[in-house]
Amino acid sequence: MGEHQVVPVAADPAARLRDEVSAFFDPDRWRTPLPDLEHSGYALIEQVRSWQPRFVIDVGCGDNLFKGKIDNLIGIDLVNPAADLVCDLLDAPIRPGTVDVVLALGCVNFGSQEVIEQQLRCVASWLTPHGRIVMRANPGLPTGPGLAFFEWSPTNVDPIGAAAGLLRDGPIRYDTYRNSRGSDEPRLVWQYRPAALPTTPAATP
Ligand SMILES: C[S@@+](CC[C@H](N)C(=O)[O-])C[C@H]1O[C@@H](n2cnc3c(N)ncnc32)[C@H](O)[C@@H]1O
Repeated sequence: MGEHQVVPVAADPAARLRDEVSAFFDPDRWRTPLPDLEHSGYALIEQVRSWQPRFVIDVGCGDNLFKGKIDNLIGIDLVNPAADLVCDLLDAPIRPGTVDVVLALGCVNFGSQEVIEQQLRCVASWLTPHGRIVMRANPGLPTGPGLAFFEWSPTNVDPIGAAAGLLRDGPIRYDTYRNSRGSDEPRLVWQYRPAALPTTPAATP
């Protein structure tokens, strides 16, 4: 094709976003910061074990680094072949109401607010009534050409969660990510639970 190769651009916005995410997180070029993160890295191994979950999903698992360290865990990723299931989270064959813990570390972070809410609703539908989601997000800082991050912020975590039927559980914390230029960037870390817990039937007199 010569020097100016024309890369086809998908016309459908959802397909274009998938192409951009796939190119950005191509495992041949992308490196995970996970081992260096205080709250949303390997500290999660003990935390998740303490919840004694029967079924854990690591959605957007990247290199699937929790596999073998957290029991009963399935990693899903759009592009990384280290995942147990390589597919879009929206297409993942997970039965609703069966997952105790979802790790969504840097995954629900791309596209418009509409896309984010659609993805969160999907992930929320997997949860058991007492399940929880551990979230990590880039608050929309530029990371170079090719992919725009959704601007998560402490002010939109609760309303976006509510739109997906979720309630924040605990504080919003910060992890520090050292970028490729050697500068530190913040990452938001928080947990969601289903907003509606099953009601206990009232005792009959
Ligand atoms: C910032 S990386 C984080 C990877 C890993 N969780 C970690 O902390 O090292 C985000 C990952 O989410 C995946 N991802 C993004 N959108 C996705 C989607 N719609 N379905 C499945 N995986 C997705 C990407 O392919 C990428 O591997």
